[in-house]
Amino acid sequence: MIEVKDLVKNYGEHTAVDGINFKVQKGEIFGFLGPNGAGKTTTLNILAGLSLPSSGVALIAGQDVTKHPIGCKKRLGIATQDSNFDHHLNIKDNLFYQGLLYGISRKELKKRVEAALRWAKLEKYRKKRFHQLSGGMQRRLVVARAMLSDPEIILLDEPTTGLDPQSRRQVWEYIKDLKENGKTVLLTTHYMEEADILCDRISIIDHGRIIAYGTPDELKKILDNDIVIDISLNPEVVSEHIERDLNSISGVNYVKIRNHEIRVGVNDDAVVEQVLISIIAKNKITGINIIHPTLEDVFLHLTGREMR
Ligand SMILES: Nc1ncnc2c1ncn2[C@@H]1O[C@H](COP(=O)(O)OP(=O)(O)O)[C@@H](O)[C@H]1O
Ligand SMILES: [Mg+2]
Repeated sequence: MIEVKDLVKNYGEHTAVDGINFKVQKGEIFGFLGPNGAGKTTTLNILAGLSLPSSGVALIAGQDVTKHPIGCKKRLGIATQDSNFDHHLNIKDNLFYQGLLYGISRKELKKRVEAALRWAKLEKYRKKRFHQLSGGMQRRLVVARAMLSDPEIILLDEPTTGLDPQSRRQVWEYIKDLKENGKTVLLTTHYMEEADILCDRISIIDHGRIIAYGTPDELKKILDNDIVIDISLNPEVVSEHIERDLNSISGVNYVKIRNHEIRVGVNDDAVVEQVLISIIAKNKITGINIIHPTLEDVFLHLTGREMR
C-alpha cells in the first residue's frame, strides 16, 4: 500500500531524511520507531502530500504522491502530532467542517461524524471544545477524525506521546481496532514498548536513516546472544568453584560474581536451564531474574545511545 524508494528531504544544509526505503503491506501495522528529530514526521508529511521530497519517490497504492496528489490523499487519513482543532467550535462541529473538506455530502457526513464520536466513545462530549478533553480523549478524537473519509491507509504520528500509561493502553486498543477493520496503519513512535506490542513490522530510524528493519522478534534476535540471568544465592552455601563450573557450560558468554550475587550472560533459552541446574546442584538460590533483550537494548546496541 505504501512504498518509499531512496527518499531524501533536505532543509537547506540539513538532511532530515537521508535515502530511506520501506514498504507497508495491506492490512498491517507498520512502525516507524526512532528518537526525536529522526525524520519520522518529515516522512509522514511527504506521504500525506504536505511536503515535497528533495529526491526519491513515495508511492501510495502504486501512485506517486507528487504526481497524483488528489488520488493519493483520498486513500489516506492522517493523525498529526499537532491537532489543529478550531477552539471556537465544539468537537462535533469540528469533525463536520473538516469532513466537508473531503467533499463528503452533508447527509453522509452527519452519519460519519456520529459514527466517529461513537467509535471514540465521545458522544457525551460532543458539545465540548477540544481543549476541554483529557489527553487520551484528544488522541482518540484525532484518530477518529483521520477515519472520517473512510481511508484505506491511516498515518498516525506519535499517537500516544505524552499520555499516561492507562490512556496509552486505551489508544492502543483503538489502533488494534483499525487493523481489525482492515485498515493499513503506518505509525510513528519513540516508545519501544508501543512498537513491540502493536506493530507487525518495524523500521528503526535514526538521523534520517533506517538502521534496522524487521518484525519485533526479528529485531530482538539481533541481540539473541544477550539473555541475562541475575541470581541471588544464600551466602552460607556458595560453592567454591561456581565460576569455573558456569564458564564450562557452552553457550555461557560471561559470568560475573559479586559476593553472593551472580550475573550470567547466555546466548539461548536452553542455556538458561543448564545454568540453573548447575547452580542448584551445589547452592541455594534465593532469587532469579531473567532479562530478555528489549527493543531499547537493540537501539542501544545499534547506535550506542539510549533512545531518550
Ligand atoms: N520545516 C523544517 N525546517 C527545517 N528543519 C526541519 C523542518 N522540519 C523538520 N526539520 C528538521 O528535520 C529533522 C527531522 O525532523 P522530524 O521529521 O520532525 O523528526 P521526528 O518526527 O522523527 O522527531 C530534525 O532535525 C528537524 O529539526
Ligand atoms: Mg515527529
